[in-house]
Amino acid sequence: MNSEESLYLDKIIAYYKSDVGTDQISLLECLKSIQVEFKQIPNEAIERCAIAFNTQIAVVKALIQRTAQLKQESKTHVITMCNGERCQARQAYRFIASIEEYLKIKVGQTTPDKRFELRTQHCLHRCAMGKNVNLDDQELTEMTYEKLIAELQKINT
Ligand code: FES
Repeated sequence: MNSEESLYLDKIIAYYKSDVGTDQISLLECLKSIQVEFKQIPNEAIERCAIAFNTQIAVVKALIQRTAQLKQESKTHVITMCNGERCQARQAYRFIASIEEYLKIKVGQTTPDKRFELRTQHCLHRCAMGKNVNLDDQELTEMTYEKLIAELQKINT
């Protein structure tokens, strides 16, 4: 989000906070307005709305999830695949290439929908349990193509 968008977001929130009130109906109207303007609810909006409407982040998130017309911006999940020697001995390069093919991106790129970023790292320090992958802060060991695809499909944000 650039600074212009950030200011615009603050303006929308300020309008609903000061002109309409701080109840949950106003919060919902505010979120609907943000959705119209940004085509989704940016992650930055969630905390700002919680502060402005004197509520918890979980309440704002729950309201977004319960309201069909609202869609929270998806987080970019970082997949870090080991390309160290011990994992290479377990066909890490072929594994990495198959994930590149599945995501239709190369290492160092992010998918067009911004859901996944693919990286490699020379050793994830769990060599005995390779092939190894980190999915955000989750440490995955003894990975195969099928197991990693299953993990990626479990992610729904
Ligand atoms: S070489 Fe892959 S974890 Fe060390």
